[in-house]
Amino acid sequence: MTRREFIEKSGNSYLAMAALGFLPEAPAKPFHLPRNEKPNGKKIVILGAGLAGMSAAYELGKLGYDCTLLEARDRTGGRIWTVRKGTSETEIGGEKQVCQFDEGYYLNAGAARIPHHHHLTVQYCRELKVPVEIFGNLNEAGYYFSESTRGALANKRVRAREVHADMRGYLTELVAKAVDQKALDLPMSAEDVERYVAWLREEGDLDLNKKYKGSERHGYATPAAAGLQAGKIAEPYALKDIVESGLTHPAFANVGEYTFNQQPILLQPVGGMDMIPRAFTKLLGDKIRLSCEILEIRKTQPGVRIVYLDKKTGQKQEMKGDYCICTLPLPMLKGIASDLSGEVQRAADFVPYMETCKIGIQFKRRFWEEDDGIFGGISKTNMDITQIFYPVHGMLGPKGVLKGMYNFHGTAKKVGALSLAERQKLALEQGARIHPQYAQEFENAFSLAWHKIPYSKGGWGVYSDSARQRLYPVMTRNDDEIYFAGEHASNLPAWMAGAFESARYAVDMLHKRVSAG
Ligand code: ALA
Repeated sequence: MTRREFIEKSGNSYLAMAALGFLPEAPAKPFHLPRNEKPNGKKIVILGAGLAGMSAAYELGKLGYDCTLLEARDRTGGRIWTVRKGTSETEIGGEKQVCQFDEGYYLNAGAARIPHHHHLTVQYCRELKVPVEIFGNLNEAGYYFSESTRGALANKRVRAREVHADMRGYLTELVAKAVDQKALDLPMSAEDVERYVAWLREEGDLDLNKKYKGSERHGYATPAAAGLQAGKIAEPYALKDIVESGLTHPAFANVGEYTFNQQPILLQPVGGMDMIPRAFTKLLGDKIRLSCEILEIRKTQPGVRIVYLDKKTGQKQEMKGDYCICTLPLPMLKGIASDLSGEVQRAADFVPYMETCKIGIQFKRRFWEEDDGIFGGISKTNMDITQIFYPVHGMLGPKGVLKGMYNFHGTAKKVGALSLAERQKLALEQGARIHPQYAQEFENAFSLAWHKIPYSKGGWGVYSDSARQRLYPVMTRNDDEIYFAGEHASNLPAWMAGAFESARYAVDMLHKRVSAG
């Protein structure tokens, strides 16, 4: 947030003064609040030790608040979860699963990528000294595989670059011709029309007659090499074949290049996404109480009383506080007895959460690198697995864990309903249509359906425009002494940045209230 935005948003002279530098500024940039670790006597109970809860506790700690985090799981991080050797999980109504990956290999089962413009996420990596590396989101060498009953390119893998180059070529050819025939009524001078056509030719790699006849961008039929092998550019695919085969289906949309949150460069922490929650966990120490499942959220007017089950002792306990920050995912809030307002309960009841599945598959050999020259990035298909993500960690190494599926909505619901063995079979069979090496090189797998994971019950909050208008605003306000944070309490749902931004927002509100006395 810029200083100007901060001051405008704060509407509070105390905060505005801090921002203007009249009060000492916190050394930590994200919150811009004056640091004062002297206890201020206020006790905050934070529900959930995911990123929202932990970043709120960390920042409130800088301001002198006494925070305790109650976390139902025996680990912190929530949906920031890196699965490694020995990780175990039992889905709701499912079988116990223990990860068999070799030491050093992992699957980012939840959050997996950081857009470069998610400043708060990047800032926390900087502040908490979590090293980052480039996340391979877009790779033109990735494959597209369209399962279809017709089309010359159906049921075979083609490279993303081939489809991208040819579609750009045909599209720009069409526009260039239309411009030429004066079919487009352009508000430009003749000279500027010429410039535009020149750009179209460049954009699509058209020839002098504005025709797309193929391009080196599509790739080579015979690669250039030494001696007399000059290299031969491959023939382009016919537009008809691309369209007929289903490669213009949304499954193959070029989101990796176009959408704001996926444009290069993206980042990931070195060693697994859980390096971020681990860093917070270390800083917060015994403020975090694990295995404490929230049973009741009560208002004590003023203050809060939280009833929880200490799963380690089996005892019901309670904790009182002056304020509460509730970061529980809405599907979890639904099942908890509380004095929360009707409006909050309505949001919990009616904001849907994403169904989504992933599977990590360990292979004996990094055949996608060795045989196919794919180093990071994504292959896409309209089969149930939807996507294959190739890891950037451990490149050129002996083995690898790739993400053999990442799907959503009804597809994820269907796949999530399968047994672990059936899910693995599906991922291996469909993946093998893109990479025939799958069967030969397979070692083990770990899958998950977020909508069946205890204490999450969903991937992330999904707001329709009308739900955003009707149900979201209550998440941005306090319900007496209870404040809300988490990706669902932000305009950046499904991103770690949403969790951080919402925590910052809740801390700002709470601190403003306390500071005003
Ligand atoms: N933010 C999530 C992703 O990157 C949804 O896939």
